[in-house]
Amino acid sequence: MARVELNGLRKAFGAQEVLSPIDLVVEEGEFVVLVGPSGCGKSTLLRCIAGLEPASGGEIRIGGRDVTHAEPVERGIAMVFQSYALYPHMTVAENIGFGLRIAKRPKAEIVARVREVAALLQLGHLLDRKPKALSGGQRQRVAIGRALARKPPIFLFDEPLSNLDAGLRAEMRVELARLHGELGNTMIYVTHDQVEAMTLADRIVILNAGHIEQVGSPLDLYNHPACRFVAGFLGQPPMNFLRIGTGDAGHPVPPVPIVDSLAALAEATEVGLRPEHVWIATGSEVAQFEVSIDVIEQFGGETIVHALLNDGQPIVLRLGGQLALGRGERISVAFDPANLHFFGADGKAVR
Ligand SMILES: Nc1ncnc2c1ncn2[C@@H]1O[C@H](COP(=O)(O)OP(=O)(O)OP(=O)(O)O)[C@@H](O)[C@H]1O
Ligand SMILES: [Mg+2]
Repeated sequence: MARVELNGLRKAFGAQEVLSPIDLVVEEGEFVVLVGPSGCGKSTLLRCIAGLEPASGGEIRIGGRDVTHAEPVERGIAMVFQSYALYPHMTVAENIGFGLRIAKRPKAEIVARVREVAALLQLGHLLDRKPKALSGGQRQRVAIGRALARKPPIFLFDEPLSNLDAGLRAEMRVELARLHGELGNTMIYVTHDQVEAMTLADRIVILNAGHIEQVGSPLDLYNHPACRFVAGFLGQPPMNFLRIGTGDAGHPVPPVPIVDSLAALAEATEVGLRPEHVWIATGSEVAQFEVSIDVIEQFGGETIVHALLNDGQPIVLRLGGQLALGRGERISVAFDPANLHFFGADGKAVR
């Protein structure tokens, strides 16, 4: 069994509390992504699970067994780091088989296992090469292979793709998803890249300053963020947050009756609207507002418009296709009120 259970897990370095009590269950076979800003405690949490860092309080259970004080090797875990130090003097095959040699497995078993892992990671033709003769993506695959060879029931990844360029990252992301589909191991994956979180995770755990903000499936978090932090973290460009009901004389924002009435009902101080949830008004929509264009970014397939509302608040719009618009032009954009999010003064979503 490879179910991971954290009960009130705490970690402090001296007087500095890095993880407030964390409660989380990762089911067997689940792909869970821990995501959050730099310094929020992602690596520390992973290292506590692996046993590389002692917990300051609480309990870690793996497969139902209390491993809070167990040695790393007793936990059935393999970890892949951002800096995947391969042994430079060893071939790909020797690097992949290293853990098995240390564990004194029979030679025939090691050879067979290395072949199997190399095939899975499409490294079969590179087995005799040294790391220096590999691309960054190939090296990262060897590092994953080295962890994989020992057939760990649980895989921990700490930003394994952050050293790769954008193209390779996208490629490796797909490979990792495929790997998880084929192996079905429990995977806990740390990243600060919200795209990796959205695309890889069965469930995302959003961490902020050592505590969990929200846990849920990617679309669940995208559609129903519980707070402003989560709302602003997932989605690119990020959600727009617009002040409402501030009483700035004569500037109700956004200037749409339906928003004002809903917002008043909800007692929210801010309304959230994702850039992709607007379109250029055809004139028939009830919910629309006018903006003045500041900057246009043409991506070919879509156009990102940085604009200003009538009261001067900035708003970003993600519009489909290519638009012949220029700075200073005014356009009317429409939206579906069902896509609005409301947040109170405390940052919590108001439903
Ligand atoms: N060994 C240590 N001693 C003291 N403080 C530490 C130690 N390791 C980490 N910290 C602190 O704990 C906090 C969390 O660090 P951690 O490495 O877990 O963050 P992270 O979320 O992985 O960040 P990043 O995205 O930058 O990798 C930081 O404030 C960091 O300075
Ligand atoms: Mg880290």
